[in-house]
Amino acid sequence: MPRPLLARSAAGLCGEVRVPGDKSISHRALMLAALAVGESRIDGLLEGEDVLRTAAAMRALGALVEREGPGCWRVAGCGVGGLAEPADVLDMGNSGTAARLLMGVLATHGFTAFMTGDASLRRRPMRRVTAPLEGFGARFVGREGGRLPIAIEGAAEALPVRYRLPVASAQVKSAVLLAGLNAPGLTTVVEPTPSRDHTERMLAHFGVPVTVEDDGSGGRIVSVQGEVEFAGRDLVVPGDVSSAAFPLVAAILGPGSEVRIRNVGLNPLRAGLIEILRGMGAEIGVEGERTAAGEPVADLVVRGSRLHGVAVPPDRVPSTIDEFPVLAVAAACADGDTRMEGLAELRVKESDRLSAIARGLAACGVALEEGEDSLVIHGTGRPPRGGATIAVDLDHRIAMAFLTLGTATPEPVAVDDGTPIDTSFPGFVALMNGLGARIEENS
Ligand code: S3P
Repeated sequence: MPRPLLARSAAGLCGEVRVPGDKSISHRALMLAALAVGESRIDGLLEGEDVLRTAAAMRALGALVEREGPGCWRVAGCGVGGLAEPADVLDMGNSGTAARLLMGVLATHGFTAFMTGDASLRRRPMRRVTAPLEGFGARFVGREGGRLPIAIEGAAEALPVRYRLPVASAQVKSAVLLAGLNAPGLTTVVEPTPSRDHTERMLAHFGVPVTVEDDGSGGRIVSVQGEVEFAGRDLVVPGDVSSAAFPLVAAILGPGSEVRIRNVGLNPLRAGLIEILRGMGAEIGVEGERTAAGEPVADLVVRGSRLHGVAVPPDRVPSTIDEFPVLAVAAACADGDTRMEGLAELRVKESDRLSAIARGLAACGVALEEGEDSLVIHGTGRPPRGGATIAVDLDHRIAMAFLTLGTATPEPVAVDDGTPIDTSFPGFVALMNGLGARIEENS
């Protein structure tokens, strides 16, 4: 059942919140804990639908995965190479990360598994991940373009791989590294532009030999030693900066706002949005910097600010990749033009985000130009009119970005379906309303 929602303008946001656990780190924590020997306790795990799909998949593959309390999970792993053939199709729901990383794990387990997902995941490209995984000796039979549903025949006698990524993709990098765990010798990924390095950091946290070197031209060479046994470890998942982005931007857009967001993961390869917003004039403070399970964490303190347009060059894109919907919302309220380039990857996310952003903002009265891989937003220094209903098309971040816009526009902004929000940010509406937003069911 779709859940239509509507956001009305709010008079500034105030208060203190914690956002749910980081989605990228949560998937990796469950997968690596399932490949470890013995028990791991994970605290702060995101209990959104995407991560629950990974939990169910690891269980179907033989690991013991148990919820002990809110955000607190216990995993007893099977050891590298120790997963078992699943009895049924693995349904990864809406999650590209779950599907692609798990394909990596399965590529070097010598059994056949079948994988599917929802309508959004079934239209997403998978050749980018199956092509390098074939190098290990795995075979994939999917639909056109390698799309789901797909059969994965893992290599019984895997070979290690050296792979140069054609696009910056942490999912493809991680899939290859996870496959390399059960191949003899060294598996190496060369990435032309650094992408989020949660897998590398978590492998190191579990004591797996992993090396990261500069390639001399701005890229990185990441290698992992295969066929190692590693023991379970406890870890704490920080709050998701990609979820924090919504209350953060809503607070910036609200005159007189003052919001503290506690315990946010600030991995430099994820936190591009904060730097860009600061460059646009946003007042964002970082307090109490610390480290948890190898990841930098801090509290964010944000105040209502006047924004001006900026240029966002292509080299900013990987560290901001999931934040373009909400960044575009901020740009729509800023004074002057914001130019964003190198956005081709946005077309293959949970929806074609570049066109969803452009269509939605135009319907709200924003002047803009959408290119093949670029977007120019002409801001006037005031929030646009609003007064539109946005088609979410199974994309959680499109839903949350446009509800964030509706907290600032004179006329309400509605979304036709808020249910996808639960894939990454359960409790989004209550958290925003607790800060003073006015998001409600739209009957
Ligand atoms: C992710 C990597 C990114 C990102 C996605 C999560 C990850 O995708 O958009 O939401 O956890 O590795 P790509 O690897 O396709 O860039």
